[in-house]
Amino acid sequence: MSDKNKVYIFDTTLRDGEQSPGFSMNITEKLHFATQLVKLGVDIIEAGFPIASRGDFEAVQKISREIRGVQIAGLARANARDIDTAWEAIKEAENPRIHTFISSSDIHIEYQLKKTREQVLEQAVEAVKMAKRYTSNVEFSPMDATRSDRAYLAKMVEAVIKAGATTVNIPDTVGYAVPSEFHGLIRYLMENVEGIDRAIISVHCHNDLGLAVANSLAAIEAGARQVECTVNGIGERAGNTSMEEITMAIKTRSGLFNVHTDINTKQIMTASRLLTHITGVTVQPNKAIVGANAFAHESGIHQDGLLKNTMTYEIMRPEDVGISKSSLVLGKHSGRHAVIDRLKTLGYELEKDDLERFFKYFKALADVKKQVHDEDLEVLIGEAVYKEKGRYKVTNVQISTGMYSPPMTLITLKDRERDGDESFDVAHGNGGVDAGINAVKKITGTKARIESFNLVAITGGSDALCEVTVTAVEEYEGKIFKVFGNGVNIDISVAGILSFVDALNKLDYRKKVNGIRMKVEVNL
Ligand code: KIV
Ligand code: ZN
Repeated sequence: MSDKNKVYIFDTTLRDGEQSPGFSMNITEKLHFATQLVKLGVDIIEAGFPIASRGDFEAVQKISREIRGVQIAGLARANARDIDTAWEAIKEAENPRIHTFISSSDIHIEYQLKKTREQVLEQAVEAVKMAKRYTSNVEFSPMDATRSDRAYLAKMVEAVIKAGATTVNIPDTVGYAVPSEFHGLIRYLMENVEGIDRAIISVHCHNDLGLAVANSLAAIEAGARQVECTVNGIGERAGNTSMEEITMAIKTRSGLFNVHTDINTKQIMTASRLLTHITGVTVQPNKAIVGANAFAHESGIHQDGLLKNTMTYEIMRPEDVGISKSSLVLGKHSGRHAVIDRLKTLGYELEKDDLERFFKYFKALADVKKQVHDEDLEVLIGEAVYKEKGRYKVTNVQISTGMYSPPMTLITLKDRERDGDESFDVAHGNGGVDAGINAVKKITGTKARIESFNLVAITGGSDALCEVTVTAVEEYEGKIFKVFGNGVNIDISVAGILSFVDALNKLDYRKKVNGIRMKVEVNL
């Protein structure tokens, strides 16, 4: 029996999120992230846009083959080639969904598609029928719905439901809507589309005006029962509805909305940090739910109130989003069991090889740092599991610097494409990091340049682990590639050098597999 009060969570981090600049992931990273999405309890994972590139196709196919317990959606424009390709990629999923779309606004129809409303309506219906030949689970999106003529939009929604769409998604593609208006639009569709109860109404909001979550909540109040969202709110331009914000708003204000999701909110923090480690893009400290300050109380009055009763200034419990209050701290004497146990509590169950590598990193850190905190463990997982598989690996860094001697760094680098050959070189620079990066450039011959460099300390104290995030840019075959890289080490300079090498690994991957996204054909 369907649960009328359940809001389905459709996660598009791996599609809308991943397609935005700087957030690209390789197949292994996508698979790891999808595993975390299952732990989080999302209902549908939009794994990618299979026609967009060979890399996208392979990632969607692998996720469909290996991930269970969740629906897997593949995106397709409203044409046979896209739909066939999407099906090919998702057909081995436990519950595959084809998500097909075409624009419904006059601006898009006239200037982008260069068609008439009638032609587009016909194409939408045909696309749904084509998808239905493959699976009963078909979602349709009228792109730019919020700038479309309401009567025409309603006609299109009615026609695609009649053709068999089981979910109809209303996108605010350019983030133009405001909550009262978006509520009105969903209500209008609910009241004017014949057969609307045969489909689930979904919403997909972009955050250009910072209203994506507010618009999604307004749509839920008007009857929408699926929300498309991304972890940390990543996505095109200003991003999408943030998964953690929408699900915690629904949970915290359940009495008001009278709906629920199946999200295991205790997995939110792990999902957020995992995405940060994979992409190298950190969230701002004041970000709702997952920012470093989201549960930090600075003012004396607030701290006083909290000590008396946490409800005075906390509307959510940090434990409910997976921020542990436990003061358990590990060190070099902690046994394997204690460490594995702690990892499990944090939501990580590593494969044997990954675990072995993780322990090497753990021991190295515990040797120099007395107390290893949860945040350190999560960073080590990022280092041991995700970074190990890139083309280059730094095997040694030796820095010589001083107030009156020119900084010089020696780097030893392993190149997996040259049978793991190790090469070393030495270079000068403006400081140890710059010298190290110059040495890496000499060894690899890369033309990549660093556009930004950010440093944060992960845990307090002068022995804190430091995380450096860089943005690196490279021109290749007439295209500009931009990636984020991050590096973590107890030494600031080493962290900086590792972040540059991480960026080189991502550039290498982008150029080889994912880089040249197929040109989106205009004859939609
Ligand atoms: O923003 C948008 O309209 C989309 C569609 C493909 C759903 O991402
Ligand atoms: Zn979108």
